[in-house]
Amino acid sequence: MDKIIIEGGVPLEGEVTISGAKNAALPVLSACLLTGGWHTLDNIPNVKDVRTIEEILSNLGVVLEENGQTLKVNSDNLNSYSAPYKLVKTMRASILVLGPLLSRLGKARISLPGGCAIGARPIDLHLKGLSSMGVDINLEHGDVVASTDKLRGANIFFDISTVTGTENLMMAAVKAEGKTTLHNAAEEPEVVDLARMLSQMGARIQGAGTDTITIIGVKELYPVRYAIIPDRIEAGTFLTAAAITKGKVNIKGCNVDHMEAVIEKLLDSGMEIEKRGEGLVAIGHDKIKGVDTKTMPFPGFPTDMQAQFTALMCIANGWSMIRETVFENRFMYVGELKRMGADIEINGSQALVKGKRNLSGAQVMATDLRASASLVLAGLAAKGQTEISRVYHLDRGYQDLDLKLSLLGSKIWREKY
Ligand code: EPZ
Repeated sequence: MDKIIIEGGVPLEGEVTISGAKNAALPVLSACLLTGGWHTLDNIPNVKDVRTIEEILSNLGVVLEENGQTLKVNSDNLNSYSAPYKLVKTMRASILVLGPLLSRLGKARISLPGGCAIGARPIDLHLKGLSSMGVDINLEHGDVVASTDKLRGANIFFDISTVTGTENLMMAAVKAEGKTTLHNAAEEPEVVDLARMLSQMGARIQGAGTDTITIIGVKELYPVRYAIIPDRIEAGTFLTAAAITKGKVNIKGCNVDHMEAVIEKLLDSGMEIEKRGEGLVAIGHDKIKGVDTKTMPFPGFPTDMQAQFTALMCIANGWSMIRETVFENRFMYVGELKRMGADIEINGSQALVKGKRNLSGAQVMATDLRASASLVLAGLAAKGQTEISRVYHLDRGYQDLDLKLSLLGSKIWREKY
């Protein structure tokens, strides 16, 4: 296994280019199941979660040809409709193949994704929506066993805004008979990206990016060449890295429209952010202000930036209250930050942070993807050396984060243990 070691206290300086969005790549790759022929996908990040969905697809008989950040995908010879536990248990977003398999084959057997570190993460809303489209769903030996003779359009109301739930139902609906309307749909940029690709494939979708999405089923879809959006969470992580190290970073290739809530909160904390062409220039200052924030579905402050922002608040002047409203257990990294001297008190879904002048380097352990990013940020700012174990969590969603940081001047490296 790898660990990351950081000698803290170095202000970042230089330029970084943001990779493609993991959470756009996963649904876009799953959508390739909807039709035969060669799809060509650009800007696909080289991260573990993408490799996992590729493995699930090749298990189904899909052919994948990688050439750097470009991936060619062909599902002409689908020879299975099941995704095994050994793969699904490592990534709950594997459930994204359910909708496309039902559309293409009329059946699917997907291991029920377990919970994960950040919460129970049920898929009841995915299944409820599919059954309203005429899908028979049974749970057998830990698998979701789903079948339908024909997907029919339906009026679907999500009790909670669900990103992959919206994506799954959108993919099930594109070739269903009639009209499907998704109410209280997720508005995340990754949902819009998937809708844009599906439309290029010949789907008829209106309203992606709003809370009501309408899909009129079509007879045929066609393979496309499609470039996915940049990763707004990686970009937000680098903005925060510039703030926490009081450095100056030119962040290239990010989409500012996807990051307004994060930019606003970071500006409130006292850093400077200038829009420059296809990117941002981020300048951290010595005085960091404590800022309260609450995570919300898009366009609110993203839950995937909560841990990173909390790390910054640990060295702010004054107090801040961080409220997590999306997941039930997304403060597991706090215990590790406290090992570095952070003064944080958890009360249910809230973290009360008392900013301090410095954090001190320590041995800490990553618990989930965004928690790992938080510990890296804290290590960049801490006095002395920080050693982060279980960085396989980090590698699920960040392409070469430590390499990119070292190119910005940080003293950071990996060791085996
Ligand atoms: C997506 O997860 C992202 N993953 C997550 O990113 C992100 O944190 C999350 O959306 C929220 O923005 C991908 O896109 C692959 P949800 P998803 O369904 O779709 C509850 C990362 O770090 N819910 O929007 O699984 C659920 O428990 C990851 O990149 C149900 O109750 O999240 C949660 O409380 C972490 N029933 C809330 O809805 C359901 O059927 C939002 O979850 C589905 C969801």
